[in-house]
Amino acid sequence: MPYYQRLGEIPHKRHTQFRKPDGTLYREEVMGLEGFSGLQSILYHHFLPPRVAKTEDLGPAQPEYVDFGPVRHRAFTSADVPAGGDPVSARRVLLGNNDVTLGVARPTRSMDYFYRNAQAYECWFAHEGSGTLHTQFGTLPFRPGDYIVIPYGTTWQMQLNDGEARFFVIESPSQIHAPKRYLNKFGQFLEHSPYCERDLNPPANLETHAETGEFEVRVKARDRISRHVLDHHPLDVVGWDGYLYPYTFSIHDFEPITGRIHQPPPVHQTFEGWNFVVCSFVPRLFDYHPEGIPAPYSHSNINSDEVIYYCDGNFMSRKGIDRYDLTLHPSGLPHGPQPGATEGSLGKEKTEELAVMVDTFQPLNITTYALELEKESYQASWMEGDPTGNPE
Ligand SMILES: [Fe+2]
Repeated sequence: MPYYQRLGEIPHKRHTQFRKPDGTLYREEVMGLEGFSGLQSILYHHFLPPRVAKTEDLGPAQPEYVDFGPVRHRAFTSADVPAGGDPVSARRVLLGNNDVTLGVARPTRSMDYFYRNAQAYECWFAHEGSGTLHTQFGTLPFRPGDYIVIPYGTTWQMQLNDGEARFFVIESPSQIHAPKRYLNKFGQFLEHSPYCERDLNPPANLETHAETGEFEVRVKARDRISRHVLDHHPLDVVGWDGYLYPYTFSIHDFEPITGRIHQPPPVHQTFEGWNFVVCSFVPRLFDYHPEGIPAPYSHSNINSDEVIYYCDGNFMSRKGIDRYDLTLHPSGLPHGPQPGATEGSLGKEKTEELAVMVDTFQPLNITTYALELEKESYQASWMEGDPTGNPE
């Protein structure tokens, strides 16, 4: 999925002299994954990249998990998560394992420091609010419905337009990228993919700051946060090129794949990482077989946990679930429509639902914070009505 990009000024040949107007050298940085074998970009800085005036430990940054208890379906409401703070400090992790963490953030103000996650990719789904992510690769404006995909090691600062926003945040120590089956052997999106290069928005404008002063960068590494104080602006890149950079993709640009009978969740897949996938449920026409059942069938995904974050619209297979809720359907127990939902779906022609789903291939743990948001009656919602599932 990553494809070649360049922005700003770069020398004709890599690793050659590239000079500022005053005759001194720009400082080259090769930023890459998997040693020198993975995706990489080459950036040209005004200042020496390793230059840090002061370092300080700000403490651990690991989620606090609790025992799951008996295996059961669970739901959490994030509607009333207290709003406040900047995007990074407002983030609350609700679920996680070694492969991925899932959280929400309701910031009310822009960041006054910079942030770099050196141990994980981050994917910020902007449910509400708009703003700009300022990065060393350039600026990424975002609006509701945008996934903001940020590779490890990207230094950024988020500015909010209206001073309030709501995000669903996915963090993963593995790369987050398009499913391989969407790409040809050269890495280009295939015709059957629900989105393509035209729908991805790489950084557009490069902001180059050559000023000195005192600038704070909080770095997440080794499950802790370090504070770095620089004597120069961290966004000092005059040009870069390569395959590694942040980008946005709007869920509204995801083209749903529909069929005569119910299409399985993989048609909604948007991204994948190690041991998890991200899917987008978007407004779409329902199945058009005359006897089709638009509601999904009950299903046991034996070795995966399923999390859905409900954004907008009426999610027809879920009773008692509201906007901003998250459901967790763990492995070990089938899930599907609640009593009456299947009949209720018959004859429906379309849905306006909007939701983000994350399926993990290892069990998810629940944080102490998630317990405070739990809707404890969720498992009992399958007990209402006739045990066969028919409406009474
Ligand atoms: Fe499911």
